[in-house]
Parts: sequence; C-alpha cells; structure tokens
Amino acid sequence: MLTSEAIQPGDGGREKGPGDATVHRIGRIARTETGSGTVRVYGEKADLALDFYTERMVRIRVLLADEPDGSPTPAVLPQQMEQVVETAKDGDEFRFRSANGLTVSVDGERGVFSVRNERGEELLTGLDLAWDARRQLTLTAAMGADSHFYGLGEKTGFLDKKGERYEMWNSDVYEPHVPDTDALYQSIPLLIHYRYGAPACGVFLDDPGRTVFDMRTNGDRYAIRSENGRLDLYVWEGPSLKDVVRRYTALTGRPPLPPRWALGYQQSRYSYMDRAELLDVARTIRAKRIPCDVLYLDIHYMDEYKVFTWHPDRFPDPRAMMEELAGMGFQVVPIVDPGVKKDPKYPVYREGVQEGYFCAKLEGELFIGSVWPGPSAFADFTDDRAARWWGDLHRFYIDSGIKGIWNDMNEPSVFDTANKTMDLDVLHANNGNPKTHGEWHNLYGMLMSKATYEGMVRGLDGERPFVLTRAGYAGIQRYAAVWTGDNRSYWEHMAMSIPMVLNLGLSGVAFAGPDIGGFSHHATGELVARWTQLGALLPFCRNHSAIDTSRQEPWRFGERVEAVCREALNLRYRLMPYLYSLFYEASASGLPIARPLLLEYPDDRNAANLCDQFLLGRDLLAAPIVRPGATARAVYLPAGVWYDYRTGERLEGGRHVLANAPLETMPLYVRAGAILPEQPLRQYADEAIGGALTLNVYAGGEGSFRLYEDDGRTFGYEQGAYRLREFGWTESGREGVLKLRTLHQGLPDGGEPLKIVVHALPASPVDVLFPDGEKAARWRYDEAARRLEVELPETAEFALRIVW
Ligand code: GLC
Repeated sequence: MLTSEAIQPGDGGREKGPGDATVHRIGRIARTETGSGTVRVYGEKADLALDFYTERMVRIRVLLADEPDGSPTPAVLPQQMEQVVETAKDGDEFRFRSANGLTVSVDGERGVFSVRNERGEELLTGLDLAWDARRQLTLTAAMGADSHFYGLGEKTGFLDKKGERYEMWNSDVYEPHVPDTDALYQSIPLLIHYRYGAPACGVFLDDPGRTVFDMRTNGDRYAIRSENGRLDLYVWEGPSLKDVVRRYTALTGRPPLPPRWALGYQQSRYSYMDRAELLDVARTIRAKRIPCDVLYLDIHYMDEYKVFTWHPDRFPDPRAMMEELAGMGFQVVPIVDPGVKKDPKYPVYREGVQEGYFCAKLEGELFIGSVWPGPSAFADFTDDRAARWWGDLHRFYIDSGIKGIWNDMNEPSVFDTANKTMDLDVLHANNGNPKTHGEWHNLYGMLMSKATYEGMVRGLDGERPFVLTRAGYAGIQRYAAVWTGDNRSYWEHMAMSIPMVLNLGLSGVAFAGPDIGGFSHHATGELVARWTQLGALLPFCRNHSAIDTSRQEPWRFGERVEAVCREALNLRYRLMPYLYSLFYEASASGLPIARPLLLEYPDDRNAANLCDQFLLGRDLLAAPIVRPGATARAVYLPAGVWYDYRTGERLEGGRHVLANAPLETMPLYVRAGAILPEQPLRQYADEAIGGALTLNVYAGGEGSFRLYEDDGRTFGYEQGAYRLREFGWTESGREGVLKLRTLHQGLPDGGEPLKIVVHALPASPVDVLFPDGEKAARWRYDEAARRLEVELPETAEFALRIVW
C-alpha cells in the first residue's frame, strides 16, 4: 500500500526535470535524395526517410547513426506507394510534395518536420525532435486551444485525451483502474488529432517498445516519445474522423467477420469448476430464457493449469459435454494462457524445449517465469515455426468441438520478475531478425492471438473461429476481439468502460467490451442490471466475475434484476441483423460498431467529450445509467429528430432532454430516417426459428441501411456467399418512398419475406403503392400507435410509395 511517504519532498523541493543530459538533434541538412515515392534527407547527426502512400499518408522514419532495420512491425500491412511530384527548397526549408496530396517540409537547420495537406493546412506541425544519450527520442508538435485527441486504444479516463499523458506498455493491472493507471493491457500508439473546422489527422507510432503520448505537460504542444529511439511514424489526413479510422485500418487491418454466435451474450466466471456446474449454468440459462450463446472455461478446466489439457476429474469427457451443450445451442470458449508449465513429463513443454520454440536469452538460457502453473516457459510467437506449432496445438480443443479461444495473461504477465513481465533482454527470434523483448514487448499478445487465430482457421475446416484477447498492439483487430481486462464492480468502472470501448473502436478495435458487472469486487443487482443494459449494446457482450466475489449471473439478484437483464439481452438478439450488418461494415471499412457521437456529428461541439452516451451504428443512441439510484438522466440529442425507442415519443434534437429511466429502462433513441432491421427473438444466434425480418422505418427524416446476411458460420462470404441489400427511405411532400436494391446476391434463396413497419407517419396513409400504380397487397395502419405495417413477398428490388 502506498502512503503519503510516496510524495515526500526529496531534493529541496525542486521538481524533477530533464536534467542537463546531452540532447541530440538531426542538425543541418546536407542533402536530400528523391526516389519514386521516397525521400531521404541527410542530416548532420541522423537522417530522415519518407515514404508516401496512397491513403494520404506518409511514413516518416528517423534513422539514427547506424542504419536501423527498415521493415515495419507485423502491425502494418503492405501499402501502395505514391510518387513524389515536387522537391523544392525555399530559404531554409526543404519541401517534398507527393501525388497523394501531402507535403512534408523539413527545416534545413534542425531537421524538424511538418506535414500539410493539399490546401496547405497543417496536419502535424513539428516543433522539436531530439534524443538523449540513451536514444530516448521525443517529437513535439503543436496543439491549439481547440485541439482534441482520440484513439490511443484501451486507456482510462474520458473520451477526449487532451490534458492526459499515457504510456504504452502492455501491463497486467489488477489494481483498480484509475485515471493514474496509464498503461493497461493493450497498446495502440495511434493518436487522432481533431480540431473543429480543420482536417482530422492520424498519427501512428509503429513502436512496440515503451512509448509515451503526452498531451498534458507542455502547454501548446504535445509530445510523442520512443524509449528505443524508434521513430517510425505514420501521418495522414482524414479529412473526416471517419476517414482517419478508415485509413488507419487500411494500414493495420480490419476485423474479419466473426461467427454470428460470437455476437451473442456470453456467460463467464472464474471459474465454472466442473462439468456439473457448467451444465447447471447452461440449463438455468435456457430455463430462464436468457438468450445466450457462449459459456467460458477459466483456468480450472486444466490439469495443473497446463494449457492443452483437461482436468481428469472435473472434466472427464469433454467431447460428450460439448455435444450436450451444443445440443442446447451453446459454444464453449476455454482460456489459453501463454505460460507452459515447466515439467519434463508434459509433452507441450518437452516439445517446445526440444524444438527451440520458447523464448530464450541470447546465450541460450530459457526464460522461465511463474504464472498459474508455477515456473513456465513462453512460446516465441515472433518465430513462424513456433507460432505454427502453437496454432496447431489447438486441434486439441477443436477435437472436442471448440471453436473459440480466450487468450489471457499475454502481456505477458509474469508473477515473479521485478518488472512483472518477461526479462527485457530475452531475444525474440523473429525469423532471423532478432528483437529484444524490450523492443517488442507490446507485440507479444498480438502475435499470440495471431498464432491462435491462424491455427484455429487451419483446424476448423472452413468455419470461422473466435479469439478473445486481453493484450494486443495495433492490428490486433485482425485476429481477436478485446475485453478490457480486470475491471471492478464499481459504478465508476462501468462509466469508464464507455469511453474506453469508444476509443478502442476509433483505434481499429471494433469488437470490444468490458466484463459486464465488473470482474473483481462484489456486484450489486442494480449494478448488474444497469451494466447489462449497457453491455447488451456494446460489440462484445460478456458477463465475467472473479473467484471469491459474489455470484454475478443475471439471476443471482432476484426476479426484478433477472427480468431487466433478460429484456436487455432480448433487445440485443432482436437487433442481431442490425448488429451483424455493423460487424460487416467494420470488416469492410474499419468503422467502429459503438461510436462516439462525434463520429457522426463532427461539427457538434457538445460531442467532443461526451462519455456517457454512444451510438450503435449510425442510428441508435444509447444513454446508459451509470450512477446508483438514478431514475432519470440528461441526454444530449444531436441536431435532427429523434424517437424514444420504446415509447415512440418524437423529440427535437440539438438540445438536452431529461429521460425517465426506472431500473427497467435504459434511455434509447432512434434517428428519424433510420431503417432498423429486427428479427424474432432467439435464445441463441443461430437458433432456427424462422419468421419474417421486420424492417422498421422511422419517418420524419431520410436514411439508408445496408443489410448484410450470410451463413454466419463459414468463410463462404469470402467467395461471395452473402447477400447485401440496401434500403433507402426518402420523403417529399405528402409521401415517402422506401427502396430496396440488392447489391450482392450470393445466397441460394432470395431472402425471407419482409415485414415493413413505418413508424411516426405524419398522417394516416391513404395509399401504399408500387411505383407502377399497383397497390401493395397487404397493409394495415394502427392509428393510435401511428404504425403502418406492410407485408412484402420475397423480392430482390422494390420501391414502395406511401402516400399520406
Ligand atoms: C486474469 C483475467 C481474468 C481471469 C483470471 C483467471 O485475471 O484477466 O479474466 O478470470 O486471470 O484466469
């Protein structure tokens, strides 16, 4: 425990400063060399290398005295180069303009650089670039009174990171996550610089060692620091916030479509101890009609915590158990940690040592660190041979019917080292291009999930796997969903999970969510009810809790809480076609599923730091209750017309409203013009119950929606086995037109019949017509509810005119 001693004055009250350590700078530029899409700038003490890419992006590297390895880390995908079309010198300034629209200028005296867009607007204004004797390198750049910062992955605090300083160093933080906790499990060194009325800009520092982003300390400037002297920076223009995310995910990848079941509700506990307990949870869930797809197995399923084993007494016949659960519609996801128990009788350990798959020092000594199984070795995922071996080991689970894996402790967390992770002088093999652990620490978890995902793909014979991870680096979205680690059953942690998930989404990680109800500490029923309402609308939706805490499944707090949770999850399952289409959008464009309001309303200053509301996709606005005892809250509705999702009440936006929110209700709004698909309630995502899809159209505005459908299970969509339909709603005068266009039809059937429900028509309809004047066969209008219902036959294209 820390006491006040921690802040005793040490050195006569002087604050610690940078000291007088020698500072180095690039210095005078001697010459430059322009290639096709590249520029080399030769300075006195270091060089700069520029690579221009099509995504209005430039990669800028500082090359200190000796030539560093120029290859990007595994975070980055190959990019297309773009020509340099102009090289100029203007006084002391060198200027390089690319066909991608960007211009980099380098100050000829000091080597500091800036980046501008086509119209000369500054994207990044470098003020200084310096390093010390240990090569800790810092870039400082200008920020203004109107600067806002987003991204940075999984960080504590609010949405806007201005005024904050964060380190990137994957860490297992069991201590409560508070604003001072500046390094957590994930490190995504992406900074989005946003100013109203100016182009949004992305800055990505591809350095998986320890880095710092400081938007706090230096007044009118922000600083980016690399402790290893690896300034490998990508700078790009949006110009919109959405474009920043789109381009960032073109650089680091987009999430593959998960199996549909992974969108379902997931129930976990550290631990469901044995077969009887797991089956009891499964039966209770079905008996209570709480929709659910996934059950988790935490570390107790293993024999002596050895990965790729089953505990012989607790889980005697896993295949039979899995079959029984599959019959009830459940998937099972077991935990797999990186630590492999040091035990010469254990085949995984033996093989790993014999084949040289484990992390070792330069001199050959294995790194052994203690985790759950005691002293353990750690696979070296930087080595393709080791990664493949690890991936293939997962056939052990696949053989029992498992399709999803939970990667934990992969920062990696180590109990008995001083730094709580792997020794920094471990030398990762990296296929002949070795890196110390200190240089590549933040990549360890991502490379573990990559090995896992790829191994599962190989083993699953065409089915999509699901991988969940605690640790990750930029690009983790290509392999795994992310949960935000060991939070607590605190209202504050529930509130903080919103901006955390939103910034993860802006950082490319669309598939993320917190442990619903909180992991450690003891949850109350009210907290679980409110957190389930929130979590039911976040991309990753899992209730998990720690050993020795109060039980936290939805039914542990009496009937009222159970009913609230059921209702919240029912909503998620009814909205599954909407959610699944958003996952498709994320996989196609990188856009987040849960969005800060600012993403859709970039000119709205009220949205800059709005942390207790979010949008699911573009059209649903959720305003969770994040305080105990609250039965009402202020909700900010952006400009336009909104409807209360439950009551249908029409609300003018551009203002705050007071929402009524008894425990049963989480305020939820739909944008006028929205087209919201809903399906009949299922108890699990792929439950075959049929029934028409309902397309809810909210009149009073215009909009469109792309509905994506496929088998929800295989990679067939990559070969075109999917259907993509676009619905559009327009209004003029006394009529509205709903149009359907099929953009891609790669499924055998034409789609289930559709039921159209038009909400909030301004007046009773007089006619519902197809454009050639033919009357729609069946429609009815509920005057009191102002709902028009139309049934449509199976059809690929239509236009429906509704006249009122
Ligand atoms: C870590 C994980 C937690 C898990 C526990 C036991 O604390 O973050 O989710 O339950 O380990 O495996």
